[in-house]
Amino acid sequence: DPFCGSSSLPTSLSVDGDSLQRQINELSTFSDTPAPSVTRILFSDKDVLARRYIKNLMGLSGLSVREDAVGNIFGRWDGYKPGLPAVATGSHIDAIPYSGKYDGVVGVLGAIEALNVLKRSGFRPKRSLEVILFTSEEPTRFGISCLGSRLLAGSKVLAEALKKTTVDGQNISFVDAARYAGYMKGEDDLSNVFLNSGNYSAFLELHIEQGPILEAEGIVTAIAAPASIKVDFEGNGGHAGAALMPNRNDAGLAAAELALAVEKHVLDSGSIDTVGTVGILELHPGAINSIPSKSHLEIDTRDIDEKRRNEVIEKIHQSAVAIAKKRSVSLTEFRIVNQDPPAISDKSIVKAMEDTSKELNLPHKLMISRAYHDSLFMARISPMGMLFIPCFKGYSHKPEEYAASQDIANGVKVLALTLAKLSLD
Ligand code: GLV
Ligand code: MN
Ligand code: MN
Ligand code: MN
Repeated sequence: DPFCGSSSLPTSLSVDGDSLQRQINELSTFSDTPAPSVTRILFSDKDVLARRYIKNLMGLSGLSVREDAVGNIFGRWDGYKPGLPAVATGSHIDAIPYSGKYDGVVGVLGAIEALNVLKRSGFRPKRSLEVILFTSEEPTRFGISCLGSRLLAGSKVLAEALKKTTVDGQNISFVDAARYAGYMKGEDDLSNVFLNSGNYSAFLELHIEQGPILEAEGIVTAIAAPASIKVDFEGNGGHAGAALMPNRNDAGLAAAELALAVEKHVLDSGSIDTVGTVGILELHPGAINSIPSKSHLEIDTRDIDEKRRNEVIEKIHQSAVAIAKKRSVSLTEFRIVNQDPPAISDKSIVKAMEDTSKELNLPHKLMISRAYHDSLFMARISPMGMLFIPCFKGYSHKPEEYAASQDIANGVKVLALTLAKLSLD
């Protein structure tokens, strides 16, 4: 092997922080709401343009680009042992309504820049290095979080649902939406999206912290276990003036009561690590002078401790049943959409990131991720590690989200050198 003796770690790592910041700003203009907010929904026109922007950057960096049937995008730099399992890194670029420009984006643009850094340094990877853009980390359009990585990790249930039953709020099917964006062309099943475990020797994700803890970099040791639930109540509705109070069964009040019950059960867990949110609450018909005949809630609940989170879910279910009975409405749906276990970072990857941070004189903290990420699912098929960048006051999922260029550049530096090490491993 001609390169075998010459493979060594890069000695100079120059991150082009200005270009990276310019790209982050540019990508944020592909949005359906005005700046500073960003809204980029899966397979919308803006999402398609943003994807094109990323593929173009991958091409400019000399990566070979591949897309799978659901729009996961892979940019590959072949190592001199291309048959070995590759080392991958990446994140997402979809953005929930009225969010900011760093969530996910930093881990995609930063990954491309990390490979640029290594290229500029003259480094030659042994294992191939891959940048992944994951489809729909956010559940906004189809209610499914980490859609792309969940599928890569081999979810047969999801593959079936995407082909047959998954629709958005406008009743557009996943298949039609994907075809609109140029994907799902003539695929009979989605099992060709699945990756074997062993495909990657390591997966790393660079991401903003989204919480208030960090002053410098964070190295993630575990990702909390997320779950989401959809609930529908139905009552008789009626005239807001004429129907007397004792004769009502108000589906809206059932929803309000359940929302408060969610908060109570979460707080009763006694742990600061248990969280629960009712982020969607819809009333039908939604007229001021009509008693709500239908209500719809979507509940997000998470915990570091899976068992404790499951107990909260069970209590929420019991409350939904009891509230429906008390208010004489029917509980027409109580559906647990996902109930995922937590993920643990790979010890040797954590160690590699810690060592790298020390070598680069960058302080770091070990921490848990309370937010979920594509890494939660990549951990099912690959040793996984995550690197967090501090963000202003922990703001995220809102327009005020901000991370300093210098912090991003430091993160990219640690990412680049860790990728180099793992590539030679
Ligand atoms: C995903 O962005 C999450 O809610 O953690
Ligand atoms: Mn997010
Ligand atoms: Mn994210
Ligand atoms: Mn997330």
